[in-house]
Amino acid sequence: MDSALIQQAKVVLANHFAYYLKAQNFHWNVEGADFLEYHDLFAKVYEEVYGQIDKLAEEIRSMDAYAPGSLMRMAQLSQIADENAVLSPREMAQRLLTDIEILQRSVMEAYHLAESEMNHGYSNYMAERQDAFAKHAWMLRSTLK
Ligand SMILES: [Fe+2]
Repeated sequence: MDSALIQQAKVVLANHFAYYLKAQNFHWNVEGADFLEYHDLFAKVYEEVYGQIDKLAEEIRSMDAYAPGSLMRMAQLSQIADENAVLSPREMAQRLLTDIEILQRSVMEAYHLAESEMNHGYSNYMAERQDAFAKHAWMLRSTLK
């Protein structure tokens, strides 16, 4: 049976994976007069988030648990809603902004669980993720003004 921290670390990984895929989907499919602005904005987001996937999985391995690595497991664990429709550029940015609240909640829960187990390496990493998502939220919010 996984500890609460390991279970939450798996949710954090799956949330990052689902969010990365959504941002890349929007990068691919965005259309309109402001295409390039949104195309580049969504690239900034997905590239940063994608860059964390390997580390998030290897952190789980270093807790002596197996990392979820299939689409089915990612979908089961993720709290980020999948997106199949092609939305307007503003709707895309709004969805990514709203999803950050879910991501931040999962990251903060993992932070507190790691602190209670004295796993400061992982709690520090979660604090870094909190900062990174605050920056993504700032860029998305500013674009939507
Ligand atoms: Fe691209």
